Amino acid sequence: MTTTLITGGTVVSATGRNTADILVDGERIVALLQPGSTVLGANLTETVDTVIDATGKYVIPGGIDAHTHMSMPFGGTTASDDFETGTRAAAWGGTTTIIDFAVQKFGERVQDSLQTWHDMAAGQCAIDYSFHQIVGDVNDESLSALRGLPDEGITSFKLFMAYPGVFYSDDAQIVRAMQTGAETGLMTMMHAENGPAIDVLAAQLIAQGKTDPYYHGIARAWQLEEEATHRAIMLADLTGAPLYVVHVSAKQAVAQLATARDRGANVFGETCPQYLYLSLEENLGAPGFDGAKWVCSTPLRSAQQEHQAQVWQALRTNDLQMVSTDHCPFCMKGQKDMGLGDFTKIPNGIGSVEHRMDLMYQGVVDKRITLERWVEITSTTPARMFGLYGRKGVLAPGADADIVIYDPDGHTSIGLNKTHHMNLDHSAWEGYEIDGHVDTVLARGKVVIDDGAYHGRKGDGSFVRRDPCQYLT
Ligand code: URP
Ligand code: ZN
Ligand code: ZN
Repeated sequence: MTTTLITGGTVVSATGRNTADILVDGERIVALLQPGSTVLGANLTETVDTVIDATGKYVIPGGIDAHTHMSMPFGGTTASDDFETGTRAAAWGGTTTIIDFAVQKFGERVQDSLQTWHDMAAGQCAIDYSFHQIVGDVNDESLSALRGLPDEGITSFKLFMAYPGVFYSDDAQIVRAMQTGAETGLMTMMHAENGPAIDVLAAQLIAQGKTDPYYHGIARAWQLEEEATHRAIMLADLTGAPLYVVHVSAKQAVAQLATARDRGANVFGETCPQYLYLSLEENLGAPGFDGAKWVCSTPLRSAQQEHQAQVWQALRTNDLQMVSTDHCPFCMKGQKDMGLGDFTKIPNGIGSVEHRMDLMYQGVVDKRITLERWVEITSTTPARMFGLYGRKGVLAPGADADIVIYDPDGHTSIGLNKTHHMNLDHSAWEGYEIDGHVDTVLARGKVVIDDGAYHGRKGDGSFVRRDPCQYLT
């Protein structure tokens, strides 16, 4: 077993910070020590295999991105990052665990779809990974298959109120799936947008010749996110199911979640960096077809309506609990350009898995969130929400040595096409400057990023079984 000592850094958790050394033995953390501690009279720095000097830097638990779509089939194409390229890019950005989505298509068996995703990921990943289960065909057989998921180490499933004819579930299907969630303790994750209403608006816009990417944001109006969020909360209330609403972007949807949480409901919500920084006007409305880079659902919201400020505030006040990326990248050439002349044919998704930790750290620099909250929303809460806490999301004896050394005096020019590591021919984040830098990343004790180089390899990452949500009693 290799031993590593990380010395002199400021160890930051969700609840505080202090100067400590971290001793790693093999894949696990074995101790947090006073700096300069001796063991049986010997200075640890002289006895361990490797010493990493983290003086002047933050030492944090590795990021957990609980919403990614590697190789996701969508809109007649497939997301451009596979498990190899996507998890390598994640490691570069300080993320050491992803939770991806196994996709049950209409007419397919849940078990077969899960096996397909296991086959795609096994031996390919640079970092640890798990799965949520997408249920694209709620019926007796798939509901029965859901009951078997906890035995497979999978404790959450996603339904779609959007995308009729693809992944869409109607209210009857949602009620039945949520009843199963309530019985089994599985978390229902919800894509909350009123799909049938969106499709009417989108068809009308196209008929009027309004075909540019900008109109993707007009068709997917905030009212349709608020309405679906409210409906999902009510159906969860009815059935007793715990509910987690994904990729929340509209301030009105945030308000629905806040109201439900204020009355004690087991309702949770995530947002994504794109809803904190990017907008309908500036990005989706970019000249020509450029806005296609930012076509994702839920869509970017209007800067004039102050959604971003409300979403930041919700992160601060815990009305929203965490930040994932919804990483679902498509290249402009050969993928996004399928929607030239018809925005409804642009595959939905943005690539951000490499940038989440940096983009959220900029929120610390800009005084929107505290340093501790940064760790909480990017690592500790995702671990608790999806049953990984103790092993992941915390720097403590017994935890996996998933550790990021972050330099607050460093600088990151993110998104430049030449420098990012995602399998994308563009970047949705081109030109963003971050006042901080991911210096060193350890994934289960192995240094995978250091000195501006990647030292990992595919197959380092393993499937991680998850417990039920650790916020539920
Ligand atoms: O635009 C998005 N979000 N693409 C991925 C699929 C989904 O709805 O999460
Ligand atoms: Zn979604
Ligand atoms: Zn998604």
